[in-house]
Amino acid sequence: DIQEARARAGSNIALVKYWGKRDEALNLPATGSLSITLDTLHTDTRLVPDPSLAADQFELNGRPADPARLRAFLDRFRALAGREGHFQVISSNSFPTSAGLASSASAFAALAVAANRAFGLDLSPTRLSELARQGSGSAARSIFGGFVEMARGEAPDGSDCVARPLAPAEHWPLEVVVAVTSEEAKSVSSSEGMRRTMRTSPYYPAWVEQVDRDLALARESILSRDFAALADVAEASALAMHASALAARPGVIYFKPATLACLERVRELRASGLDVFFTVDAGPQVKAICRPEHRRPVADALAELPGVHRVLEARLGPGAVELP
Ligand code: DP6
Repeated sequence: DIQEARARAGSNIALVKYWGKRDEALNLPATGSLSITLDTLHTDTRLVPDPSLAADQFELNGRPADPARLRAFLDRFRALAGREGHFQVISSNSFPTSAGLASSASAFAALAVAANRAFGLDLSPTRLSELARQGSGSAARSIFGGFVEMARGEAPDGSDCVARPLAPAEHWPLEVVVAVTSEEAKSVSSSEGMRRTMRTSPYYPAWVEQVDRDLALARESILSRDFAALADVAEASALAMHASALAARPGVIYFKPATLACLERVRELRASGLDVFFTVDAGPQVKAICRPEHRRPVADALAELPGVHRVLEARLGPGAVELP
């Protein structure tokens, strides 16, 4: 029978970015990517079967929200289960949705795990990663905890385009400080930013060419816990992604003045001896990754910059789980 189900998934931050799709319909990325899953920045989702509904309803953080993407996503589970039921979907984020923390990643990962339980499908984490990817590319990575690598895959149907765990959170307990520089919804969605970059940026082919090398460097530096090497490759990946987007027509600009101020501050902190590096996604917030003993000074230094509204802090966390 169709059951009520709950799940939690952490958001994740890419250290080697995903930017561009080789297939928009199946949501297949043009390259691999590599990320860390976070603990305290997560989405909780509850699926409540409701026989009186003709379509899924969606409530996010206590308010009605647009159910379009979620309905299409749950349709895939209905097809797999050969069942018809619809749900009240009740989700909440532990972080501000507008803060550019890839809420679609934790949202679709939590939804995949909850839907798997609700329909009694018993799918493997790898299959759930494949399904989560169809909701949002970055969501494939939030199925797993710690350090996670997403494969580009070769199969035209996307069956090998899944994430896999690279190392658990305990392997290297890095921490994250998010400097929130704007609470406004982002101007250009990541899907649109990617599309425009692929179609018009003369730097996009150079980006694609760089990613495999960056993946190898990041993988190696994580496995050997080489902080300086990981800092190098992660900052290079983020800046090259933004460089490709900036060179699109019209250029896609995600940085605010405070974003740049944070990047400079992180580099100053590193020059002064702290182990910290930055990354930036499709929005103006800066994510600083550091060793646990350096989190306090990093958070304090970023919080006092003009234009930084607040800082959020997180550790590496586990993969998506069912909740009782
Ligand atoms: C810059 O996963 O949000 O955060 O697949 O279109 O839903 P869709 O895109 P999304 O893109 C994330 C882009 C990024 C980099 C990353 O997380 O790898």
